[in-house]
Amino acid sequence: MVVELRDQPGVPAYQRLAEAIRDGILDGRFRPGEKLPPTRALAASLRLARNTVLDAYEQLLAEGYLTARHGSGTFVAPDLPDRSFRAASPPRPAASPPASMDGNLSSFGARVVEGEAPVQMLRGESTSPYEFRYGTPALEEFPIDAWRKLTKRVLDYPPRELLGYGPTEGLPSLREALARYLQRARGVRCTAEQVTIVNGSQQALDLAARVLIDPGDGVVMEEPCYPGARAVFAANGGHVVPVRCDGAGIDVSAMPPKARLAYVTPSHQFPSGAVMSATRRLDLLEWAREADAIIIEDDYDSEFRYEGRPLAALQGLDDAGRVIYTGTLSKVLLPALRLGYMVAPPQLQPAISGTKWLTDRHVALLYQAVLALFIEEGHFERHLRRMRKVYEQRREALMAAFDKHFADRASVTGTESGMHVLVHIADIGEPDAFIERAAAQGVGIYSARQYYTLDPPAGATFLMGYSSITLEGIREGIRLLAAVAERSR
Ligand SMILES: Cc1ncc(COP(=O)(O)O)c(C=O)c1O
Repeated sequence: MVVELRDQPGVPAYQRLAEAIRDGILDGRFRPGEKLPPTRALAASLRLARNTVLDAYEQLLAEGYLTARHGSGTFVAPDLPDRSFRAASPPRPAASPPASMDGNLSSFGARVVEGEAPVQMLRGESTSPYEFRYGTPALEEFPIDAWRKLTKRVLDYPPRELLGYGPTEGLPSLREALARYLQRARGVRCTAEQVTIVNGSQQALDLAARVLIDPGDGVVMEEPCYPGARAVFAANGGHVVPVRCDGAGIDVSAMPPKARLAYVTPSHQFPSGAVMSATRRLDLLEWAREADAIIIEDDYDSEFRYEGRPLAALQGLDDAGRVIYTGTLSKVLLPALRLGYMVAPPQLQPAISGTKWLTDRHVALLYQAVLALFIEEGHFERHLRRMRKVYEQRREALMAAFDKHFADRASVTGTESGMHVLVHIADIGEPDAFIERAAAQGVGIYSARQYYTLDPPAGATFLMGYSSITLEGIREGIRLLAAVAERSR
């Protein structure tokens, strides 16, 4: 029996020896029933300590590859099943794997694969020095010291209930803190029992879709709209009905009389930036009553409003219990936290909680506890006030830079709130080629086309985020963009 040890830095010698013997057995070089060398002899021939060989044998005895007969030595197990042996060298070519496993997919899996794949659409690291990507907050502004202190406080003496499994809907302290915040700041009418803590508002959309939609059910979506929402409703079998938006939000008069669900972004239509008018809000609630439908209000970035008074949520106007309200901490704090919340009518709560349990039981308790303290002790709203100023300055720098370098050649819309704007630039030729030329100059901009399904915007319209780029970056980025536009005429 020849045993050769591979050189694997960091792997203990007994493990390497066990692996070498196991490989020899599986390759068929060491036959079932074959006697292994005495430990002392093998240790001497491999220049190993005898204990190392003993440990390796013990490991393989425990795994069932070896058997020991008292007084007569250690043997390769005589009864290893044939299928455990690998083909002896030279190996036969592996059977080619099936080209597709579509036949193994459920109809849900198939719809995910065939769908719009928002994962690909929305993924992607910022690579350009002047990156105007939508959706990321100013990561460097996150109050890491406060968060660290609160985390330490939670971890110093963690109560037992933070270490085991927890309540599916979330920690009571966080649900209370959020309910109070949403009542005060967003005009949401709810009790803490209606709040479910979720892994980002994307999960709220998925839970709502799963408990409300049967394949073929009508789902009214704003046009244009957030593709992450469209994809989740389509994946759940919803029949997506796009309804155009104008400056006052979704055109309720164009909505079908029956649908299971309508998804809207009333505070800041995504991506156009329109604010839904009071009349439309009331019409929409009336439509839901008549259609026996549920409305999902995605309040993803309403905390950042720069002009006029804060707008109350649509949910606060709902007397009939037809609105599911969702919000996220991805825009105010960090996307990486994966923390969001949904407020549902009490009657839907059992289905939502049950589905949440089936999916992932609950959100990580330690983060929930830290966030509850962060809100209760005033850090959250302090940070919010600060970030409003930071983003307002960035927004103004962006608008001023467009004014200075583009004048009438560009129109910037959707500026009153949020973290992005829509920009239309005239006379630049093919938009994708322009995006590439901008990228070559270090400026990352993104077409708004992917947000439209009915009538994509004519010419070149871009969605430009300004929240994760510094003032200097904004000024220089727009200057460079203007130079690219000038050369593109
Ligand atoms: C309109 C809208 N809704 C929902 C989300 C989902 O956010 P999250 O899952 O990070 O809470 C996003 C993310 O960009 C968004 O833009």
